[in-house]
Amino acid sequence: MTHTIYQQAPLPFMGQKRKFVKAFRQILRGYPDDVTIVDLFGGSGLLSHVAKREKPNATVVYNDFDNYQWRIATIPRTNALLARIREVTDSLPRGKVIRHPHRDRILEIIAEEEQCGFVDYITLSPSLLFSMKYANNMDELVKQTFYNTVRRNDYCADGYLDGLTIVHKDYKALFAEYRDKPNVLFLVDPPYLSTEVGTYTMSWRLADYLDVLTVLQGHDYVYFTSNKSQIIELCEWIGRSRINRNPFECAHRVEVNTTMNYNSNYTDIMLYRKNENDEQILQPAG
Ligand SMILES: C[S@@+](CC[C@H](N)C(=O)[O-])C[C@H]1O[C@@H](n2cnc3c(N)ncnc32)[C@H](O)[C@@H]1O
Repeated sequence: MTHTIYQQAPLPFMGQKRKFVKAFRQILRGYPDDVTIVDLFGGSGLLSHVAKREKPNATVVYNDFDNYQWRIATIPRTNALLARIREVTDSLPRGKVIRHPHRDRILEIIAEEEQCGFVDYITLSPSLLFSMKYANNMDELVKQTFYNTVRRNDYCADGYLDGLTIVHKDYKALFAEYRDKPNVLFLVDPPYLSTEVGTYTMSWRLADYLDVLTVLQGHDYVYFTSNKSQIIELCEWIGRSRINRNPFECAHRVEVNTTMNYNSNYTDIMLYRKNENDEQILQPAG
């Protein structure tokens, strides 16, 4: 087993918590050596990795929902593919747009590779696309402008997943397995609402996001969010307000559709409730 501590995920992963590594290690030091750490939204596995290095005797469960493990397993192929792309780009100016015929040649090489197996488009993206742009497949890649930012050295993830218990499941199922066990710390880093879902395998709605909060009650947790989600503001408001039920319960609903232009429309909603009537409706007959 190698004991390097990775400060960032070995392959590109949007939303990895590398900027929290130091503070996260500090939090872990407050836990016993035999704690069980369950990384419900493992993503790149960075938090699981750091947790295992910080607490080598702990059980650390990495929920690899996106199969990042597979991307790691295919690093040799990805390195070989990048080496072939470098043969095309080495003579071109760095950081500049890659134009025809070089662009077409690169697409050809990638297509050939795809025919014999797996192409890690997310890992290729920073080598070919403008900063922070990601493609998940060939269809998305061909639509983009290519830049010569091809990585110069090989990717390496030696030892990164060592010692982790790796599972691939919905966080609710994993939480159910550990919710009643003692000495468990849950890591809770759900997808951000409408920001980062681009490279993940599913998109999240507000209700999904709020569901995650039920995990926090009565358990030790490290939870991540951003000021874009406004979740903290919402929870603070719930804490202050005296509302304890849905104010729209039993309300009637009228919807009006409005079309802005050919690809954009929305629905205005009117909700109404007349309390006397509702009471009558809710009263049991007789
Ligand atoms: C913000 S990322 C986690 C990043 C991670 N902490 C890191 O440092 O790399 C959220 C992850 O949750 C995954 N995810 C989405 N839906 C999920 C679900 N129902 N159960 C578990 N994970 C899910 C996403 O695919 C994504 O990998």
